Amino acid sequence: MIPCNDSKRLFDRYKDEFEAAALSVLRSGWYVLGENVLKFEKKFADSLNCKYCVGVDNGTNAIKIGFQALGIGKGDEVLVQANTYIATVLGISSNGATPVFVEPNSFFNMDENDIEKRITSKTKAIIVTHLYGQATKMDKIISLCSKYNLFLLEDCAQAHYAKFNNQYVGTFGVMGFFSFYPTKNIGAFGDAGAIVTNNEMVYKKVKMLRNYGSEVRYNFELENGCNSRLDEMQAALLLIKIKHSKEITEEKIKIANYYLDNINNPLVKLPKVEVGCTCVWHLFVLQVQDRDKFVNYMFDNGVKTDIHYPIPPHLSKAYSFLNYQKGDYPFTESLSESIVDLPIFNGMTDDEIIKVVEAVNLYGKE
Ligand SMILES: Cc1ncc(COP(=O)(O)O)c(C=O)c1O
Repeated sequence: MIPCNDSKRLFDRYKDEFEAAALSVLRSGWYVLGENVLKFEKKFADSLNCKYCVGVDNGTNAIKIGFQALGIGKGDEVLVQANTYIATVLGISSNGATPVFVEPNSFFNMDENDIEKRITSKTKAIIVTHLYGQATKMDKIISLCSKYNLFLLEDCAQAHYAKFNNQYVGTFGVMGFFSFYPTKNIGAFGDAGAIVTNNEMVYKKVKMLRNYGSEVRYNFELENGCNSRLDEMQAALLLIKIKHSKEITEEKIKIANYYLDNINNPLVKLPKVEVGCTCVWHLFVLQVQDRDKFVNYMFDNGVKTDIHYPIPPHLSKAYSFLNYQKGDYPFTESLSESIVDLPIFNGMTDDEIIKVVEAVNLYGKE
């Protein structure tokens, strides 16, 4: 059976480096906020051509702390795309702010033409998610943020090193949020996340928030500080992934290009990449009308598939208090019923890639 993702294959490729780094942390006697975290923060910021990075414990808390740092909370509204992962929305609502959903476009990213009508006097920010690894077309969204004086934030959990107009995602707004969950393009060996920014004040605030609200030990300055630190082990292992990030990213792009060039079946709709944007293919997402049939067919032919995500946040129980109804976001809802991911991961063999293509191409002809 071909899995949809397999984090172990990259571990196997760089095994000696990972094992040496892990052992060195274990033997160091220093496990939280040490030289590996500092090194990781510098390397990751540099690799994105960004000034500052703060390592945190996961992507969800990166977003939550980001909104906290801006003072966005009760009574405020934040625009967020309706087909994002729930974590983006939790980052807003867990601070007491209200998520206001925006439809995606046919590239699965925020539809720039659906934003303006959702802005009210309470709107404080827009958070875009560069979904499935594709950079969002940012130009009009940036102008809307300037026009209405809104903060721009970017959820880059799925899009490490994707670019719009040759600039890395995460560096367009006031903050970019990253997850290094093991299956992400740049994945740790446990939970890990980061906030990147070019704004020194924001950097300082976020750094305090993740560490009990203090900059100087035992000098607590913020009442909403938390413990959301990145640990030394994950930082040391992530440094190795960052070192190999070009190869890791290019390998996924190569698999996606093979799919795009060789999958040819009128029953499945292939993903597209928008002009000016790059896609690093965290996921390779098809659209299929009779999805259950397709999923079962692929499984019977030795290929696992997955769905990101079957229930859009506005229809999930968590947000029932917002009183959204089915039909409020028709495009999002139709996507949630038709999207399906093919396997795409580092270390996928040529045989596996060819087998996936053959299976998709024979779908409906069996
Ligand atoms: C778009 C998006 N945002 C945020 C997150 C949250 O990241 P984490 O799992 O590290 O908390 C994820 C993780 O799946 C994600 O895909």
